Amino acid sequence: MGCLIRLLGLCLWMYLASLSFISVGAMCARVGEVEKGIVLVHGKCAIGRIDDDFVCATLDWWPPQKCDYGKCSWGHASLLNLDLNNKILLNAVKAFSSMKIRVGGTLQDKVIYGTEDNREPCTPFVLNANEMFGFTRGCLPMKRWDELNSFFQKAGAKVIFGLNELAGKSIKSGFAVGPWNYTNAESLIRYTVRKKYHIHGWELGNELCGHGIGVSVAADQYASDVASLRKIVQNEYRGIEPKPLVIAPGGFFDADWFKEFISKSGKSADVVTHHIYNLGPGVDDHLIESILNPSRLDGEADTFRSLKGILQNSTNKAKSWVGEAGGAYNSGHHLVSDAFVYSFWYLDQLGMSAVYDTRTYCRQSLIGGNYGLLNTSTFMPNPDYYSALLWHRLMGQRVLLTTFYGTKKIRTYAHCAKESKGVTILVLNLDSSTTVEVNVDLKFNKLPRSGVHEPARREYHLTAPERNLHSQIMLLNGKILSVNSAGEIPPLEPIYVDSTKPITVGPLSIVFAHIPNVILAACS
Ligand SMILES: *[C@@H]1O[C@H](CO)[C@@H](O)[C@H](O)[C@H]1NC(C)=O
Ligand SMILES: *[C@@H]1O[C@H](CO)[C@@H](O)[C@H](O)[C@H]1NC(C)=O
Ligand SMILES: *[C@@H]1O[C@H](CO)[C@@H](O)[C@H](O)[C@H]1NC(C)=O
Repeated sequence: MGCLIRLLGLCLWMYLASLSFISVGAMCARVGEVEKGIVLVHGKCAIGRIDDDFVCATLDWWPPQKCDYGKCSWGHASLLNLDLNNKILLNAVKAFSSMKIRVGGTLQDKVIYGTEDNREPCTPFVLNANEMFGFTRGCLPMKRWDELNSFFQKAGAKVIFGLNELAGKSIKSGFAVGPWNYTNAESLIRYTVRKKYHIHGWELGNELCGHGIGVSVAADQYASDVASLRKIVQNEYRGIEPKPLVIAPGGFFDADWFKEFISKSGKSADVVTHHIYNLGPGVDDHLIESILNPSRLDGEADTFRSLKGILQNSTNKAKSWVGEAGGAYNSGHHLVSDAFVYSFWYLDQLGMSAVYDTRTYCRQSLIGGNYGLLNTSTFMPNPDYYSALLWHRLMGQRVLLTTFYGTKKIRTYAHCAKESKGVTILVLNLDSSTTVEVNVDLKFNKLPRSGVHEPARREYHLTAPERNLHSQIMLLNGKILSVNSAGEIPPLEPIYVDSTKPITVGPLSIVFAHIPNVILAACS
């Protein structure tokens, strides 16, 4: 706390000291469309911490018949039919070693597991408008579960599996009531343990908290269901360490519901997950304006702050994750949520969530819908795939506070560098015409200033060809990123820039800048 108060004083001083400089910069902007700014990185102490494998992506159950606004964007990306032998898919996940993969989505609360003691027929989902969520129940055959686990193992993924929380409940005017019938889930877990498949976390339910999507479960009932799951995990994994995490509720944040759930679930849940679709419906024609609007992006901070406050107040040690985030709901929007422009929303979300101590962030989706990191038909990485990979390689676990002095169209985040010395700064420029020269001011750098110059700063500039926001191609330092004919993910090479120069951030571009030769107090 003492650290924070001193920082605030420092900020004010910095702000006053830089005012004259900024006004000169602003005058230049009108003439040459080059503006100046300063990013102050508070290097004294970390304000948050992320998991080493913070980047997570989802695989969903939606069958090919899932359509939104007359378009069917899921193809063969369902857990039940995805081509697990595709080389690009394997390489894309492997490149992270490890990526977290969260298995779940709307239909997870209608899934039956085809274990040997399951008495119902093991058949897939069938489209049926009279059914909740538009489909009948569907079944996961154990043969398919074997194939999925074989893929996860080969790809080095850490799996979070979302269990069916509606099993055994009856639905009464929008509420699912009664205790969770865990017989079938327990039998899936037992099978999984017997097969020695490694599961990183078992999650219970999807979007049933708060008001729910379609149907909701009261917080006290949910807490008692999660306690049952914890007991099952303790039993089935007896003698096995570490045990998988117990995760819930995987739905939209609602302060009162979460407060009650967190207090009543006690130590049952290791992780509290929430979902984010803050850009509105995928059909919206103004998504790009929302994405490039700084105050719209800032809007999500309230949720992160509020959840952080609730967890800090509680005596249990649960951590918060974003368990699913696709930005625009109902499968996203083709040529927006699978195009270059989405990296402004996505990287800003990664940065902001980390500032509020979110440990893991699951992107909807790895593949499927219009928001896949990979193209549903060709498996080629979309721009956000490369943004995620750069984040994963460059942004370390310790999160630093940044303050940017200059235009609101610049957004900055900083972490101690990953598996390397120094610090990495992420800069997003939402402006379509102004280049911003960002001077870096590192506070609590233990190296003398003269030591900062060598070796050079490593910069990764991400842009779209012709600044076309709808492009599904991403350029790194001016060169197209694409997999080769063997389906290999390209290397992500920096350019080397003199550390004494400002970071030049072009219009509608994103820059990761790794400064290796500094020793910030928070990073050592
Ligand atoms: C729970 O579900 C199983 C089928 O998975 C069923 O056999 C059992 O009767 C159910 N238990 C209760 C208490 O309803
Ligand atoms: C945390 O607890 C304090 C004291 O009980 C209370 O005033 C505050 O509102 C709580 N904050 C949250 C986010 O629940
Ligand atoms: C997948 O890639 C193809 C070829 O580049 C492209 O035409 C198509 O629009 C992409 N599909 C999606 C859903 O992005």
